[in-house]
Amino acid sequence: MRYIISYVSTASPSISNSDIEKLAAYVGHYNNTIGIGGILICSDRNFFQILEGKEDTVKNMFERIKKDTRHHNIIKMLDQEMGNTSFSEYHSPFTVISDKEDQNKLQQFLKKKETSNPEHYKSISYLAHKFIKIT
Ligand SMILES: Cc1cc2nc3c(=O)[nH]c(=O)nc-3n(C[C@H](O)[C@H](O)[C@H](O)COP(=O)(O)O)c2cc1C
Repeated sequence: MRYIISYVSTASPSISNSDIEKLAAYVGHYNNTIGIGGILICSDRNFFQILEGKEDTVKNMFERIKKDTRHHNIIKMLDQEMGNTSFSEYHSPFTVISDKEDQNKLQQFLKKKETSNPEHYKSISYLAHKFIKIT
């Protein structure tokens, strides 16, 4: 069974924008090597992240991320097993979206979610679009 954790947070003053870019590149690469799918959006020094994968892997990763002093105001949105649909074992790649990039990747990601997990799609899609518009 796949598991999903999603949260928003704010970058700490101590981390520069170029450090955020470096962090995002590391995260995108590393998560794919350990089988964590999902998305990281960095926009105007706010983060929106979805972590998907094996329950233990995702929970352990979130514990590590929570302790990271490079961000704060961490608000968890989703923390649950993914629905038991035939798509639940689908391993999506981990994607990073930054301000400069167009939002096609996000649309593609959400489209996949809509098919595989309609309940998650609704809340994540709402938040993702709000997040991008607000910031
Ligand atoms: C907003 C944010 C998101 C992060 N997301 C991930 C992630 O998805 N995967 C990851 O390996 N590290 C992520 N990190 C970095 C981890 O917090 C941590 O620094 C990294 O896993 C190395 O952990 P270690 O110092 O305990 O070895 C993130 C950090 C921040 C600030």
